[in-house]
Amino acid sequence: MSRRLFTVGPVHVEQDVLQAMTGPMITHRSKEYKALHQAISEKMKKALDTDMDILMVSGSASVFLEGMIRNGVRSKTLGITNGSFGDRSIEIAELNGKAVDKVQVEWGKAIRAAHIKGKVKSDTEAVHWVSNESSTGVFSDSIEIAEEARSQNPDALVFIDAVTSAFAMDLNIRKLEPDALVFGTQKALALPPGLAMMAVSEKLLRKAKTVPNRGFYTDLIKVKKQNDENYALTTPPVSLMYALDFQLDRILSEGMAARYRRHKEMADIVEEWACRKLNGIFPEKGFRSNTISVLNRGGLDFDKFHSSLKSKGYEISNGYGDVKEKTFRIGHMGDTTPADLRKLLSVMDEILEEKA
Ligand SMILES: Cc1ncc(COP(=O)(O)O)c(C=O)c1O
Repeated sequence: MSRRLFTVGPVHVEQDVLQAMTGPMITHRSKEYKALHQAISEKMKKALDTDMDILMVSGSASVFLEGMIRNGVRSKTLGITNGSFGDRSIEIAELNGKAVDKVQVEWGKAIRAAHIKGKVKSDTEAVHWVSNESSTGVFSDSIEIAEEARSQNPDALVFIDAVTSAFAMDLNIRKLEPDALVFGTQKALALPPGLAMMAVSEKLLRKAKTVPNRGFYTDLIKVKKQNDENYALTTPPVSLMYALDFQLDRILSEGMAARYRRHKEMADIVEEWACRKLNGIFPEKGFRSNTISVLNRGGLDFDKFHSSLKSKGYEISNGYGDVKEKTFRIGHMGDTTPADLRKLLSVMDEILEEKA
């Protein structure tokens, strides 16, 4: 039975988007491919309001989370974490042989400038963190963190995992000036998984030229060289790119301000419901995600509740990492609307009433 996904990614994909994937296969050295690649690049820059190059490779977002480390860091980073995906980015750096100074922020709390006071050293080559921590539903102010990092070491690169915030929450990229901002297709773009994207700075590309062992697949210099010609380094997922192009038209016609507002409205709807019906929202007030609501379970038997929900055609997400047992998550990003969400919550109400 097919279920409507209110998950944290992959998320629900609309039928017309799936349909857009059925265009004819083309080779990736054709002029048709070049036109597709160029159209996507231009629309993406327009939507994100940036002049930065946006690189694309086939794979999930992690390809570029690894790529930013391999290209920008010879020896040492500062990794800030407030949840599972922050931990993951530290693990990626360490598994690539880098030394990571770690800053651990309490789960459920936002990363603040104060957490890194005095921690960005003269030999810190990059500072990395997650914009929207998907395990806890916390959205940190990346501009505040980047400014603090750069005030201590202007040479330090700023690497941001924006996997669950890009295209749903305004990151103000012009002001933020990230050196790498990474995301994928299966979250707020509401597409199937399979394409990783990175907004990349000139500063990171300059540094990359001096860093050995960038690999082949993750070599940003090679990817950028092809991108400048509207080509991909290796075989790209053309069908998915048809859908991305289609989806970017939809996004631009909605308008980014309206899109950001819609996501905020959905977060408010869930928060109000969670406070009224259950035990409220896990992350601290003022820093709550607009794409993923992390709800306190209280006494709710989540597995039983979720089985009933699934039998009625809806799927949400379990808790994750250290807060797996005491929370659960509702994803509301991409093409999901407030009306869709209200429908989900009414079904959740029915289940709670059946149990009462
Ligand atoms: C914040 C965050 N970072 C990284 C990832 C990993 O992304 P991917 O599975 O696309 O590699 C996820 C996936 O859920 C995520 O939520």
